[in-house]
Amino acid sequence: MSDPGQRLRSSLAADQAAMAQFSSSGEEFDSPIAMEALRATRVLHAANQDPFPRPGRIRVITIANQKGGVGKTTSTVNLGVALALYGLRVLVIDLDPQGNASTALGVEHSVGTPSIYDALVGDREMSEVVHPTSASPNLRCVPATIDLAGAEIELVSVVAREYRLRRAIEGYLQGLPEHERPDYVLIDCPPSLGLLTLNALVAGDEVLIPIQCEYYALEGLGQLLNNIELVRAHLNPGISVRSILLTMYDARTKLADQVADEVRNHFKDLVLPTVIPRNVRVSEAPGYGQSVVTYDPGSRGSTSYVDAAREIAERGVALTPLTDVRPGGARGAYPPPLPPRAFPDTDSATVDAGTVPAPSSEESSR
Ligand SMILES: Nc1ncnc2c1ncn2[C@@H]1O[C@H](COP(=O)(O)OP(=O)(O)OP(=O)(O)O)[C@@H](O)[C@H]1O
Ligand SMILES: [Mg+2]
Repeated sequence: MSDPGQRLRSSLAADQAAMAQFSSSGEEFDSPIAMEALRATRVLHAANQDPFPRPGRIRVITIANQKGGVGKTTSTVNLGVALALYGLRVLVIDLDPQGNASTALGVEHSVGTPSIYDALVGDREMSEVVHPTSASPNLRCVPATIDLAGAEIELVSVVAREYRLRRAIEGYLQGLPEHERPDYVLIDCPPSLGLLTLNALVAGDEVLIPIQCEYYALEGLGQLLNNIELVRAHLNPGISVRSILLTMYDARTKLADQVADEVRNHFKDLVLPTVIPRNVRVSEAPGYGQSVVTYDPGSRGSTSYVDAAREIAERGVALTPLTDVRPGGARGAYPPPLPPRAFPDTDSATVDAGTVPAPSSEESSR
């Protein structure tokens, strides 16, 4: 059911049906709080009632935007939890030394905890650094410790440094029996375009870009797209931007609408229909080591992330398995062998400003 109008009508009908059922049992459920409780119950028991469809192949999604604070981590965590609660197996990889995704999933990430650093720079297998989460048995997490802050420098002298994460993920997937392989691997990137983000772009099949509905949101987007193109040309021909998620939408401001319109005009269907509203419950949840989907399932922040996750899942059904060039390969072709020359310096990549819409000047006056 991809038509948002139809989804809304059926959701309302389901709410009314549930209300009718409760009131016929003599209980009062006609307040907003009761409705929210009802929505919460539905989200938390979702896997039995309304599971999301499995993707046509394992999807490795890199959540990237070098701009800080646009909702990368919040989106990674909440989409991951929503997909898991609706019956899909998910692995979240925290690739940011800040470790925010690990915190939000309640996963230990103090120094010494087996983490993504050990798989990237050290010699541990990925399977040794995967941790369970309390959010769902379907959801696992590879945490990031502060050690990762040094990885950008330590990786410089490592052979095939851009492929470290891809190879770690490939090895992990191959080591798992098919029924335990995740349907989704979500990689939360740091706010930079350095070697860590480069590893994530080489490891991924697709990029999800969260864009905050704010004036400066589009700045730097050209540089990100340019880098993705460079990665596609030189290191990972399979990568492409497949989803854009508008975050922190504030319905009280005209600016939020203008930014959303401009992004939709430019990126068309890449933009997910669901927009994530600015919602205080979303920002409270990490403080409790939780996603908003488990912290306050009936809140608007939670239900929006569930809707966005459903849209992502529905788009994944039509994907076909990648041709696997290696015997026993778990998920598809490796990129071609390393090109003879090194990847161009990410900092010196030219910004193709023409590819990204600039907010009009009148917006800044609001
Ligand atoms: N929909 C929302 N409503 C309210 N607050 C939000 C929402 N989404 C994110 N936030 C808050 O905004 C801040 C930035 O979000 P987040 O950490 O997800 O961004 P980020 O892009 O991962 O940041 P960084 O670049 O530092 O990694 C956090 O404090 C988060 O709780
Ligand atoms: Mg983050």
